Amino acid sequence: MASISIKLFGKTLRNPVMNASGTLGYSSEIEALWGVKTLGAYVTKGLSLTPHHGNPIPRVWDERSGMINSIGLQNMGVEKFFAQHFSFFRKKKTPVIINFFGFTEEEYVRCAESIKPHPLVVALEMNLSCPNIKAGGISFGKDPDMVYRIVKRIKEVTGIPILAKLTPEVKHIAEVALAASKAGADGLTLINTMPALVVDLKRKRIPIKGGLSGPTLKPIALRAVHECAQVVSIPIIGVGGIMNADDAISFFMAGASAVQVGSATFGDPYAIPRTITGVRAYLENNGYRRVEQIMGIIDG
Ligand SMILES: Cc1cc2nc3c(=O)[nH]c(=O)nc-3n(C[C@H](O)[C@H](O)[C@H](O)COP(=O)(O)O)c2cc1C
Repeated sequence: MASISIKLFGKTLRNPVMNASGTLGYSSEIEALWGVKTLGAYVTKGLSLTPHHGNPIPRVWDERSGMINSIGLQNMGVEKFFAQHFSFFRKKKTPVIINFFGFTEEEYVRCAESIKPHPLVVALEMNLSCPNIKAGGISFGKDPDMVYRIVKRIKEVTGIPILAKLTPEVKHIAEVALAASKAGADGLTLINTMPALVVDLKRKRIPIKGGLSGPTLKPIALRAVHECAQVVSIPIIGVGGIMNADDAISFFMAGASAVQVGSATFGDPYAIPRTITGVRAYLENNGYRRVEQIMGIIDG
């Protein structure tokens, strides 16, 4: 029987499938249906040093081939998350990846510093798509020099492995990936949402401006994973439009070591367990014993 467990940063994960940050609440939200123990690792909603209220409604919008969200990074703050939710993961013995962000470099550093190492904490995932207040709103992740500097600073204050989560809104994502890797990032998460907006014809206004996710994003994310896998040797977690096991397999073949599923869960709350079962079935039906055997195997 094929094993779908993987090793990530020295830790064994029961499978290579995670939820995408921001799409499965803080901890126990999915327990009534299937539960976090099903996941390779649980990825937290984006956390910041202090709580954020987020944007006014509408904050999510259904699009033809995906969704747009403008949550505005609403969260309870890193301290409250650990006080109220971390014991749940201890009880469930489920590995956690902490997604975090800041609006200034200092905020990123102080947030990372405040997170103490724990055997269940696999990595800190830096959301580098946030607007940098000090740089006049330009996103941290758009500038390779800025990415290099901030990843390096985070590495100085924490011993926990770092995943740099990159935005697709750049000309050459491989350049940004290389900068993150040179600065000491232990892995990459590719990709975050793509800026988008909607037009309301009747009211002649824009009801929502936000990040596009879901099926439309998949080919863009696949290309990012494939390109970055050519220039870095750190693990890549693929995310963007994964709806089922075939999508996940495509990401492994493009060079991903693990995958995350986000928007799919909104349409089908069982998308993640279905993907996990499907990945195992694919390996068994095709004579593979481990996920690693299909990683990066595509040509061209
Ligand atoms: C409602 C919602 C909230 C999100 N919140 C975060 C977040 O807090 N931090 C982050 O790095 N990405 C966040 N994302 C982006 C996802 O983690 C993921 O990168 C993106 O949605 C692409 O994956 P998908 O197509 O499977 O949804 C969010 C996405 C959605 C739809």
